[in-house]
Amino acid sequence: MALRKIVKHGNPVLRRKCPPGKRIDKGILQLIDDMFETMYDAPGIGLAANQIGVPLNLTVIDLQADGKKNPIVLINPKIVELKGRLFEEEGCLSIPGFLAKTRRYAQAKVEALNEKGFPITLKGEGLLARAFQHETDHLNGKLYVDRLSLLTRLKMHAAIRKYKKTHPW
Ligand code: NI
Repeated sequence: MALRKIVKHGNPVLRRKCPPGKRIDKGILQLIDDMFETMYDAPGIGLAANQIGVPLNLTVIDLQADGKKNPIVLINPKIVELKGRLFEEEGCLSIPGFLAKTRRYAQAKVEALNEKGFPITLKGEGLLARAFQHETDHLNGKLYVDRLSLLTRLKMHAAIRKYKKTHPW
């Protein structure tokens, strides 16, 4: 296992639509291990492969509710159902130091392959539903800031530019 460097807002790899993974081999399993280690260390509750500079359609999620680990691996995830509405504060490991209330669906159903290559369908509500949406967005080259109102987005971009000058990025 190894910690990987998390790439930050402004890096073009975060804007890439990640191509589907073809086969699960040793390299992919190592990558998944590294992604979990990097996510837990950050600490965070979700990490997409392009956030560590690898443009592959793969994400890991673990809400770690009550301090208990419940790792989820989603390969080639596809959201197939969305319901309800939420407007909660959201952050991203690629945009450290910032949070913003973001519109999301309250329930999400996702289809993917797990780390063994088996098709899985997961349903999430609340925070888990938001994680499914946030991470699949990453894999489509989207960031939560893209979902903010134009005014908020402009303000945030200016704040990020300023923040970058005095903080490691
Ligand atoms: Ni993120």
